[in-house]
Amino acid sequence: SRSFTVLALESSADDTCAAVVTSSRQILSNIVVKQLRLHEVFGGIHPTVAIEAHQRNMPGAVRRALDHANLTMQDIDGVAFTRGPGIGGCLSVGSNAAKTLAAALNKPLVGVHHMATHALTPLLTTPIDQLPEFPFLTLLISGGHTLLLLATSKTEFRMLATTADESIGRSFDKVARLLGLDWGTKGLGATLEEFCRKDIADLPDVGPFSVPMPGKLAFSYSCLHSSIERYIASAKTPLTESHKVALARAFQDAAARQLCAKLVLGLKQLSMKDIKPKHVVVSGGVASNSFLRARLREALDEYSPDEKVGLVFPPPELCTDNAAMIGWASMHRFLMGDYDDYTIDLRAKWDI
Ligand code: KG4
Ligand code: ZN
Repeated sequence: SRSFTVLALESSADDTCAAVVTSSRQILSNIVVKQLRLHEVFGGIHPTVAIEAHQRNMPGAVRRALDHANLTMQDIDGVAFTRGPGIGGCLSVGSNAAKTLAAALNKPLVGVHHMATHALTPLLTTPIDQLPEFPFLTLLISGGHTLLLLATSKTEFRMLATTADESIGRSFDKVARLLGLDWGTKGLGATLEEFCRKDIADLPDVGPFSVPMPGKLAFSYSCLHSSIERYIASAKTPLTESHKVALARAFQDAAARQLCAKLVLGLKQLSMKDIKPKHVVVSGGVASNSFLRARLREALDEYSPDEKVGLVFPPPELCTDNAAMIGWASMHRFLMGDYDDYTIDLRAKWDI
């Protein structure tokens, strides 16, 4: 049978995204318009600035998604959008565009849960013979999320842990700034990772930073960046380059130990309920950090040396916010005829 073609829109945070995806796992286009440094001075996403940028960029993103796919709206079988969670005003830009397109063309509409779409991404991107099987774990680590989710089916997810304060990505950004690093070409987090690799002899000893709330699943990354901040504030002389590298490494190491500790604790708690995920999917901007990737692999091997737990990393451009994952996660609902009404409301706050 002919495959089903979805136009999907995403605007829950600071990326304006439009994509065309088919039921045969083809991504025909995947447009992401980033707001990048627009929010830097605010230390987080500024809602009004983000809404205005989405309003400027969404029509052009839709046009480009169709052009790249070499399709017209008549070729689209359904329109998908992010129903939540996210910044209300931001969500409304994508959802109103999606609803209006669907209504005008008399096509079915599906609104999806943003976190569920992140969790389902590996089913779109992994080679068919290596697909993660349910139940699998998703570790979502970015500037916006620090989440551990259990996916038990395409529609059932359980949030096992989130951050008690700030996200892992923001803590990388803040520590990079504390160390006087700049944005570079790939952003603060990637610049910090690179800085850690600097080859410097005789690094001073900056004792390891501890994992907060051991025994609890919740993440805490503001604890960690505050420890670094205090360390710097209490230094009697300005930090030397080798001191900075030592601090950066101690931070990155502690960030990794925390991820590993919570992931392994999550696996242990599930195992007591006889739930034994065979795969862990790691995504989000921070998942591109190769030091973290290696530590996670080691932690899983140590946790389960006999039954190897698979570690899956979707390609970076599909780990970060995008609309291809929105289209893909809507697909099973389109195929079942489980559509949403054009009057469907948004859910800025929405438990998974
Ligand atoms: O998913 P993402 O691109 O976007 C949002 O969350 O909005 O994640 C961005 C975050 C930033 O905090 C950035 O510093 C961090 O991911 N990041 C990294 C690396 N690459 C990006 N953190 C650590 N190491 C990296 N290599
Ligand atoms: Zn996201």
